[in-house]
Amino acid sequence: MTRFFALLVAAAILPWAAVAEETADAIGDPTRGTKIYSKCSGCHLVGPNATDRIGPHLNGIFGRAAGAHEGYRYSKSMTRAGNDGLVWDLETLDAYLENPRALVSGTRMSFRGLKQAQDRADVLAYLRTYSDNPANIPEAEPTARKHEVELTPEILAIVGDPEYGEYLSSECTTCHQSDGGDDGIPSIVYWPEEDFVVAMHAYKRKLRPHPVMQMMAGRLSDEEIAALAAYFGRLAN
Ligand code: HEC
Ligand code: HEC
Repeated sequence: MTRFFALLVAAAILPWAAVAEETADAIGDPTRGTKIYSKCSGCHLVGPNATDRIGPHLNGIFGRAAGAHEGYRYSKSMTRAGNDGLVWDLETLDAYLENPRALVSGTRMSFRGLKQAQDRADVLAYLRTYSDNPANIPEAEPTARKHEVELTPEILAIVGDPEYGEYLSSECTTCHQSDGGDDGIPSIVYWPEEDFVVAMHAYKRKLRPHPVMQMMAGRLSDEEIAALAAYFGRLAN
């Protein structure tokens, strides 16, 4: 009876333990991440006594709202993203590191992004070791993340029709001023078309917070987004 019970317990617990261990290191290789971090360390310090440099220090970044580090002066865009509810977790950090402007168009972080998923996973595994409580950070394999920031070449290659964009734009100009004014609602005119397209898809995929914009973008097709990008991008002409 005892033996039967022990077997039952083993059967119930062991597979679970094995899975937990597997996901624990699935996030990436922190040792390799140390090397990748040399691309960040010119601007960001991490570890004991880290202070803010060009960028804020990155201790305890997991679980923190964007733009929330006391005493550091963030860009308006980063502050807005944080106020909207952007929180740094594995998924949002992964997206920001892949293409910073996709999540935060006006970010002051002049960094092109880490295009390799493995590089991002490793650097995040490294940063995770500097979180207050690494064990509490939910983990996922990089491949299990559902959102990919990088758009397919097909989407980026769509040539937007500015006239169609103009037709669609009346839905947008009830909030966004077409003269580029910014009275709390950001200006969306004269943007590089690719930045505009990437930002709209980030709302559509719900990587960017903000329910209204998620809904607006969610209703638009890839062609419509390209058309709006073309229209708002060259309003001057
Ligand atoms: C050229 C300097 C520079 C480099 C290189 C750089 N960053 Fe940044 N980073 C910044 C600045 C400046 C900000 C603040 C951005 C803003 O306010 O819009 C920032 C913001 C961030 C934030 C958001 C912080 C917060 O408190 O919300 C994270 C996370 C971050 N960087 C991670 C990284 C990682 C990881 C790397 C390397 C892969 C990196 N950065 C490379 C300058 C840099
Ligand atoms: C009901 C008001 C409203 C409507 C309608 C609206 N927007 Fe927005 N939009 C906002 C607000 C508010 C923000 C700032 C959201 C945020 O902080 O992420 C925003 C943000 C954006 C951004 C990102 C700006 C930035 O600086 O990051 C883009 C691009 C954008 N909207 C495009 C559009 C387009 C295109 C349309 C029409 C299809 C549209 N919006 C319709 C309110 C609106």
